[in-house]
Amino acid sequence: MNAHELNLLHFLHVIAALILAAFTFFAFAAAPETRRRVIVITGVASLVILLTGIRMWQGVLKFEPAGWVIVKLVCWLGLSALSGIAYRKRDKVNLLMAIVLGLATVAVGMVYYRPF
Ligand code: HEM
Repeated sequence: MNAHELNLLHFLHVIAALILAAFTFFAFAAAPETRRRVIVITGVASLVILLTGIRMWQGVLKFEPAGWVIVKLVCWLGLSALSGIAYRKRDKVNLLMAIVLGLATVAVGMVYYRPF
């Protein structure tokens, strides 16, 4: 993989993660009729994160089963599910928002510290 492709993958990966987080937070307070649109946007962002993440995993690490990548996959799964849950569990928004921040923090921390 050349430097330009890796740069583009990093860029798309991070922008999609920002979009996913932003619309997930929007979902906690948005009107019910926005649900469909928000689910589509977070779904596309989530797919972009996964595809760019897998391509980087392949290109940079040759699919080495590194612990930090597995942890990121678990965080990704949780974050991807939360916008849908946000519309249904309005009584639990504070807890759910803390979970979003926690998962995003762990996912980003894993890349920069790579503890395992
Ligand atoms: C929502 C969850 C995720 C967030 C918030 C996130 C965030 C990030 C960030 C901030 C970077 C650093 C980019 C840079 O330094 O320019 C990164 C890199 C990376 N991410 Fe993710 N990521 C997530 C999910 C995933 C998933 C699911 C995978 C794998 C399937 C993955 C694989 C990677 C890899 C391999 C790199 C490092 C590439 C390199 O060393 O050059 N990420 N991620």
